[in-house]
Amino acid sequence: MAAMTCSMGTAVAPRSTVAMETATSSSVSQRVSFVGRRSAVVAFGIGNGSARVTMAAAGAAAPKGGKQQKKEIDETLLTPRFYTTDFDEMEQLFNVEINKNLNEAEFESLLAEFKADYNQTHFVRNPEFKVAADKIQGPLRQIFVEFLERSCTAEFSGFLLYKELGRRLKKTNPVVAEIFTLMSRDEARHAGFLNKGLSDFNLALDLGFLTKSRKYTFFKPQFIFYATYLSEKIGYWRYITIFRHLKQNPDYQCYPIFKYFENWCQDENRHGDFFSALMKAQPQFLNDWKAKLWARFFCLSVYVTMYLNDVQRTSFYEGIGLNTRDFDMHVIVEVRYSLVTNSVLAALIFFVHSILPSPI
Ligand SMILES: [Fe+2]
Ligand SMILES: [Fe+2]
Repeated sequence: MAAMTCSMGTAVAPRSTVAMETATSSSVSQRVSFVGRRSAVVAFGIGNGSARVTMAAAGAAAPKGGKQQKKEIDETLLTPRFYTTDFDEMEQLFNVEINKNLNEAEFESLLAEFKADYNQTHFVRNPEFKVAADKIQGPLRQIFVEFLERSCTAEFSGFLLYKELGRRLKKTNPVVAEIFTLMSRDEARHAGFLNKGLSDFNLALDLGFLTKSRKYTFFKPQFIFYATYLSEKIGYWRYITIFRHLKQNPDYQCYPIFKYFENWCQDENRHGDFFSALMKAQPQFLNDWKAKLWARFFCLSVYVTMYLNDVQRTSFYEGIGLNTRDFDMHVIVEVRYSLVTNSVLAALIFFVHSILPSPI
């Protein structure tokens, strides 16, 4: 799942068009687009040695296919947010002249992995999607839409942050910058695929409008690292757990998007590995007692947020045959920031929830 992050704020003026271009060696072409009331377009065209991802809120256009265009999402304390950070501090942290801990060979090898683009042809839809969506009726339909909408917002949030980091770090550290740009390619693909899923339910998120209109939350780089690392690793474990569960229990396979999770989660795993390498190069964010306390605080807040989100949507997890609490416990323990810490945190969260008088 995407990082829970984004950029912009004061350092980055919201724009109506966000575009990413990066070199690839492939000639395979994949195009996904959404047209909103004011034409929000997300397109991936990979060919002739270049990959291009464009998200734009363009001029007026009529709704296509009778789809309802959603310009805003229901904001709550737990809604996936867009984030901004201190890009000047980021530039300092990734300056090889200043930071001698940056392991350039490791980043070169990570870059080669991202350039390989293993999922370039993975996100291709088929007619099964619409047929399956039409069969999802009643309360589960609304909860499915919410799942797609929230996941799309979270993936898109990652796209925006990584895209901006790729742009800002280009001069300071071109290798790290290119990895961020390629990660934004992945997140754009994920967000696009989820938004196409919404179109099966006759909806589409206007991502261009969201880019301009949503508020951005500021996190210092240290906290961006904690939050994105956790978000990527949690995303990996959530996707792979759902994929394995549905493979064993195909009766619950009610929508084909879950079949894509096995390869999809490898993107998130790679993103998490990259943040792990980034943090190793910033020992001041890991090794002193204050940093350790902050890291544990972030673990707790991210796990609590995930749990509160999931427990409010138990019907979704039950709809695909999962027990929400067991699912979250499994994910928290597997993320293994620290097995002991995670197990204690998970037990604490579930204990507090069990003694609360009513469901949260
Ligand atoms: Fe993602
Ligand atoms: Fe990711």
